Amino acid sequence: MTKPCRIVAVLGTRPEAIKLALVIHELRRRPAEFETAVVHTGQHRTMLDNALKHFKIKPDFDLDVMRPNQTLSSLTGRVLDTVENACHRFGPNMVLVQGDTTTAFASALAAYYCKIPVGHIEAGLRSHDIYNPFPEEANRRLVSVVTEIHFAPTANSRDALLAEGIPASKIVVTGNTVVDALRGLSQLPHSWEDTPLAGIPEDGSRLVLVTSHRRESLGTDQQNMCLALKDLVKKYPDIRVIYPVHMNPNVRSTINALLGDTERIHLTEPLDYITFVSLLRRCFMVLTDSGGIQEEAPTFHKPVLVLRRVTERPEASEFGLARIIGMSREGIVREAERLLTDKEAYQDMSVGGNPYGDGRAAERIVEAITRWHQGKMPLLEPEKEFHLPPKPTYRRRKTDIHEAAAAAPREKVRS
Ligand code: UD1
Ligand code: UDP
Repeated sequence: MTKPCRIVAVLGTRPEAIKLALVIHELRRRPAEFETAVVHTGQHRTMLDNALKHFKIKPDFDLDVMRPNQTLSSLTGRVLDTVENACHRFGPNMVLVQGDTTTAFASALAAYYCKIPVGHIEAGLRSHDIYNPFPEEANRRLVSVVTEIHFAPTANSRDALLAEGIPASKIVVTGNTVVDALRGLSQLPHSWEDTPLAGIPEDGSRLVLVTSHRRESLGTDQQNMCLALKDLVKKYPDIRVIYPVHMNPNVRSTINALLGDTERIHLTEPLDYITFVSLLRRCFMVLTDSGGIQEEAPTFHKPVLVLRRVTERPEASEFGLARIIGMSREGIVREAERLLTDKEAYQDMSVGGNPYGDGRAAERIVEAITRWHQGKMPLLEPEKEFHLPPKPTYRRRKTDIHEAAAAAPREKVRS
């Protein structure tokens, strides 16, 4: 019998915990095949610990690197050093990293320095602008250089990796693990008692869920967004903005200064995952610059206005479920108003279906690692990979109906 494959799964921020949780559970479900150590760099503290508690994951190593208002360089240095040390202690066959954070980048580099193969989950997302998102676009590309298996969530991300010369044999299309995490949440609470949302009047208002934390938006862009939110609540008395504010002190200072004490704008502490998802399910629409939230919202049929100039997650906008709206005050107001006032536009963006995954990403990732460890190829049979359903069956947009009508013989067209 082959020896179990030793895996180190590294996480450090809230989205990494949420997106790795089901992979860790899947690895631990198979103790004869895998010995898994969870390394928590501690890049985030409160926000990540909340997520780990929800998924009942106890880290084996806690590297405790977070410092208030940490710089990217000092953070990178601390993660590199401490993860290398953890690798020496555990001796893994593979180090798994997720996404584009400093934890992911520095851990992949540490593994490379120890000559340990890297498995990169959520590989191949590209905006093609190294300052948007910053520093995530560069982090993600740098991880690709030292990666042994690229777990690309979608065909788009696979194609981006192929275009960079990465061999097809090292890429597996898995779907995004965030959809797996949502699948485990069938029992969402109906009450917000004892949560930071308690006390928000349930008066039938339409709830606009807002989050924004990206480094490239700090300052003017975030100020514009705040002014736009104020314009919207002033003009639409039947809406309430709910904004769980990220713990980054540079985000907090702007948001609290401009939006604190504004009628019908509710600023809250970060929400635990289940409360956040229950809010996502109940809200009318989402304004966000978050990667994970863009990927989650289609599961709940919620239109997303993306508070960015570019996205490395184009699938939802390609399917008409999201729009990239930038960060100008006028643009944000205009796009939000369209959804608040135009029922057809709203319906067209809320047909749902999730183009990012089908809830089986963790299974595919673990099967591919098993085959890799056994020296088998391909890493996953092509028919087992994640495939999008073809567009017309996935959602029937008005434009598709019009195109079909235009293509049909004239006498058969009915109104
Ligand atoms: C990080 C990631 C970003 C990801 C985001 C998810 C990098 C460079 N950025 O951004 O890709 O989208 O996490 O949320 O990796 N803080 C706390 N408690 C916490 C978390 C943060 O106090 O639980 C404060 C600290 O002062 C910290 C600051 O927030 O210094 C910024 O955290 P950091 O991880 O450096 O960057 P984020 O902006 O959170
Ligand atoms: N999230 C949460 N509580 C909140 C806000 C977000 O649990 O108050 C979850 C959300 O469901 C998603 C993830 O955190 O899965 C996104 O994290 P974030 O926006 O911090 O990072 P990004 O995805 O942009 O890297």
